[in-house]
Amino acid sequence: MKVLVVGAGGREHAIVRALRRSPQAPEVLCAPGNPGIAADARCVAVAASDLSGLVALAEGEDAALTVVGPEAPLVAGLTDALQNAGRACFGPRGAAARLEGSKAFAKDVMAAAGVPTAAWRTVERPEDGLAAIDRYPAVVKFDGLAAGKGVVVAADEAQARGALDAFLVQRVHGDGPVVVEEFLEGEELSLLAFCDGEVAVPLAPAQDFKRIGDGDTGPNTGGMGSYSPVPGVDEERGRAICAEVHQPVVDELRRRGTPFHGVLYAGLMLTADGPRVLEYNVRFGDPETQAVLPRLRSDLLDLLTRCTAPGGLRGVAAPSWDERWAVTVVLAAANYPAAPRTGDVIEGLERVDRGVEVTYAGTATAPDGRLLTAGGRVLNVTGLGATPGQARDAAYAAADLITFEGRQLRRDIALRAVERVR
Ligand code: AMP
Ligand code: GLY
Repeated sequence: MKVLVVGAGGREHAIVRALRRSPQAPEVLCAPGNPGIAADARCVAVAASDLSGLVALAEGEDAALTVVGPEAPLVAGLTDALQNAGRACFGPRGAAARLEGSKAFAKDVMAAAGVPTAAWRTVERPEDGLAAIDRYPAVVKFDGLAAGKGVVVAADEAQARGALDAFLVQRVHGDGPVVVEEFLEGEELSLLAFCDGEVAVPLAPAQDFKRIGDGDTGPNTGGMGSYSPVPGVDEERGRAICAEVHQPVVDELRRRGTPFHGVLYAGLMLTADGPRVLEYNVRFGDPETQAVLPRLRSDLLDLLTRCTAPGGLRGVAAPSWDERWAVTVVLAAANYPAAPRTGDVIEGLERVDRGVEVTYAGTATAPDGRLLTAGGRVLNVTGLGATPGQARDAAYAAADLITFEGRQLRRDIALRAVERVR
């Protein structure tokens, strides 16, 4: 049986590895993949944005399942295109992927479903945005996909005006309204759930580190590290949060005739008043997946396949997890996130211990065979251990063996978990 994974990052590398562990022993293909994924799957040079090329590939290879990593092809309708060609695909159709493709739509669904979220207003003009803010800091969000650059936490009116002007007048991310919302305080949590259109089943919780700098300083990135599980969020609490923020959305989208199949990712703030949804994503998180999937004991291929059919997850045992902790440290390129430099030579990978999982992201192979940086986030290093401290030590020991010019990494990934769980 062949499975096609779409994407080229560390998330897709982790998905490929987990699929390879399936007792169904699938042949795993990846489009387009990267030099690291090529060691674990057959890579085919079709871009994740080439929808018709991907459909032709799935048909030509007779892939039993296509698993879509990134959001853009889902929002663009890759699942619709594959299903129209009679092919099974893991990931929502375009109508349900709007949950990530439009923040205004997501808010509307949350309101209809009764999901707790920050108070908000959707606005089309900067002056309406400013009028909607009664307290600072406030959060200004571009409606559409913006590769992690569409959210500004404005400390004062000048910053809010700047963000509203960039999004609504200069249109730096294209056309679309803006969501202005209340700033929430607390700890962030990424809770993902497998969904079959009817039922939502939570995965192990994770935490993500979005800012470039230690202590959550500097600009937002795609994510500089992650860990799983999360102290204080045991299985029972995970199920309770899923019942409060995932299941109602699955019910609401089903009611609207646009059922959600795939993985629904809730980015949450655990506030003093309970969990509040910051955003939904309609795919696996990057880099959460690199910390979560190495801990999955159940058959990922079976779970993903079940998500494609209505009711497929009904009666299935909850996924089982390795008791160990996983900590993922991202190695990013020089000058990330602004304009990452590429072409720096990566060294030391061969020195990394076998027990540590290194997944590849923005990398390329030079004509002379050397591995080069080729994107913002370059490599992910995941350590596992009986305690958060041991997992963290394993990840950092390995990360420090891998070098390239201008390498950036955060030194405080999972530090809070280490302090809480000794
Ligand atoms: P989003 O893409 O909506 O998850 O926003 C990116 C990041 O901005 C989140 O991970 C939070 O760190 C921060 N953020 C978004 N919305 C809020 C909010 N309402 N209050 C505080 N921080 C927020
Ligand atoms: N880790 C954040 C994201 O995948 O969007």
